[in-house]
Amino acid sequence: MSRHPFDWIDARAEQRARAGLVRTLRPRPAESPLLDLASNDYLGLARHPEVTRAGADACLRWGAGSTGSRLVTGSTELHAELEAELAGFCGFEAALVLASGYAANLAAVTALTGFGTLIVSDSGNHASLIDGCRLSRAVTEVVPHTDPEAVRKALDGHDGPAVVITDSVFSVDGDAAPLTELATACRRYGAALLVDDAHGLGVLGDGGRGAASAAGLAGAPDVVCTATLSKSLGSQGGVVLGPARVIEHLVNCARTFIFDTGLAPAAAGAAMGALRLLRREPERAARGRAVARELYERLTTAGLDSVAPDACVVSVRAPSAEAAVRWAADCRAAGLAVGCFRPPSVPDRISRLRLTARADLTDQQIADAARVIVTTAPRG
Ligand SMILES: Cc1ncc(COP(=O)(O)O)c(C=O)c1O
Repeated sequence: MSRHPFDWIDARAEQRARAGLVRTLRPRPAESPLLDLASNDYLGLARHPEVTRAGADACLRWGAGSTGSRLVTGSTELHAELEAELAGFCGFEAALVLASGYAANLAAVTALTGFGTLIVSDSGNHASLIDGCRLSRAVTEVVPHTDPEAVRKALDGHDGPAVVITDSVFSVDGDAAPLTELATACRRYGAALLVDDAHGLGVLGDGGRGAASAAGLAGAPDVVCTATLSKSLGSQGGVVLGPARVIEHLVNCARTFIFDTGLAPAAAGAAMGALRLLRREPERAARGRAVARELYERLTTAGLDSVAPDACVVSVRAPSAEAAVRWAADCRAAGLAVGCFRPPSVPDRISRLRLTARADLTDQQIADAARVIVTTAPRG
């Protein structure tokens, strides 16, 4: 009897169901009654009238799509302006905007490494960095989480180019990388440092200038940063920031830049609007961090297991994947949207609720959110 070529998919689905790891899409309505602690809209800018207006104006002026890859017709003056503003704000010589943060990470990792390169990668790094390592054809050594000594050991004795790769703020627990120690280790061994600042841009550093700026590494000749425009800036897209020669190299060699349609004008315009607003209201960055701290303190005071947040991500551990799913559903029923991280999205296989602090939450909303999370927490 012939078998259908997709039968294996059903077997996988059954395995997932047995392990309580089924994922489903839940389209949200335009006006949700839920209090949002699940999105990455850290500064509350995704629906800010100034940001949406900037996006709409860009769409009307430049068109719905960018019409081509960046090297053909997809680079508008708007893209160039956004790149100049991002580089200036974050303190780097140059910037290159791509269609997503995922594409930016693939571009940076693959273009800056290759056969003979040693990549030293933190075990908690985001999937897009991991995929970049897989595509790079370099040798990748995965080192224990936030461990500069392990990085030094990995670099020691390697003869040839090396790149140390880390998230600035880790997506799962919201803890920060030891960037100063990592940069010192890199310099000792002549390695480059590549930092994914997806969760740091807009939140860390003076007025949200990012983790590299906070660590005094912005603009350094051996440091490259990537970031997304889809979290603090409330839009969509990604960026690579670094020395001009690195950016020029990416324009010529990075496949996710060359073979991808340029970022849509609406997204570029909205990101620019958000950046200008952040320049005018730099206190939003500190407020986001303070909201995260307040949430963390309320939860840990009530006995929940959480890691002190370094930016806007607060994660709370759950006893199992099933308990985490139930907990998130109970929060939802009580009017609170929270993220739920389970294997395979968590490298240590510990399931968690993932909460995101937002600069625009009121003190009352923080108190209400903490009360819901504590009262719905799994017992025992
Ligand atoms: C650390 C990190 N890097 C990269 C990305 C990818 O960014 P984007 O969603 O813009 O593709 C994300 C999030 O989605 C992230 O959390």
